[in-house]
Amino acid sequence: MGLYADRIFPALLDLATRGVYRDREALMARARGRILEIGLGSGINLPLYTAQAHEVIGLEPSRAMLERARRLLADQPAKPDVSLVQGSAEELPFADNSFDTVVAFLVFCTIPDARRAALEMHRVLRAGGEVLFFEHIRAPDAGVQRWQDRLDPLWTKMACGCHINRETPQLFRDAGLNYREYETWYHPKMGARISSRVMRGVAQKSPA
Ligand SMILES: C[S@@+](CC[C@H](N)C(=O)[O-])C[C@H]1O[C@@H](n2cnc3c(N)ncnc32)[C@H](O)[C@@H]1O
Repeated sequence: MGLYADRIFPALLDLATRGVYRDREALMARARGRILEIGLGSGINLPLYTAQAHEVIGLEPSRAMLERARRLLADQPAKPDVSLVQGSAEELPFADNSFDTVVAFLVFCTIPDARRAALEMHRVLRAGGEVLFFEHIRAPDAGVQRWQDRLDPLWTKMACGCHINRETPQLFRDAGLNYREYETWYHPKMGARISSRVMRGVAQKSPA
């Protein structure tokens, strides 16, 4: 993939998201049971899972990111049973109804076919299972939206495929997920308004 994508961007990403560490802690503390984290990047969330997490599977397409996650795991006393899998969220190599929780943390901005990934999350969740999410999304204000659309092509190149104007809230609904908790605001630690509109909460697959 090249020096930028493999070395520089992963380090920049961890630095750039230092301001959302508390959001990571709060979300991971709620993950329970058998958990799938999609696009786990460098594995920064792994140490934050609690005793409620019985098994964590971290899925990530980038070899370089997975390598960082492996190194991080080796340095941490593993609390839950963690395994790392190379793969894409659009084609999850897991059985239907097989997870209690799916974690999506700053990943729907980057997945190329986000619609398909949302459907896949729904497929692998058990009935009543939950997606815990924290994502940056398209802003509600027309002025900000215009700048998001203008700058998105450049942003995507600099941020290894990340988009700043994704309509992720609707994608989750379209996939059949129901919001149980939903908050959206301009996060003060996520930079300018074009990149700081976030959604955070819990979306559930209908109980059987
Ligand atoms: C902005 S980074 C966030 C990483 C991590 N979730 C975090 O909170 O720091 C987006 C991640 O999505 C991953 N990604 C890209 N395409 C993907 C796909 N098709 N399926 C799953 N993850 C993907 C990238 O490799 C990258 O690690």
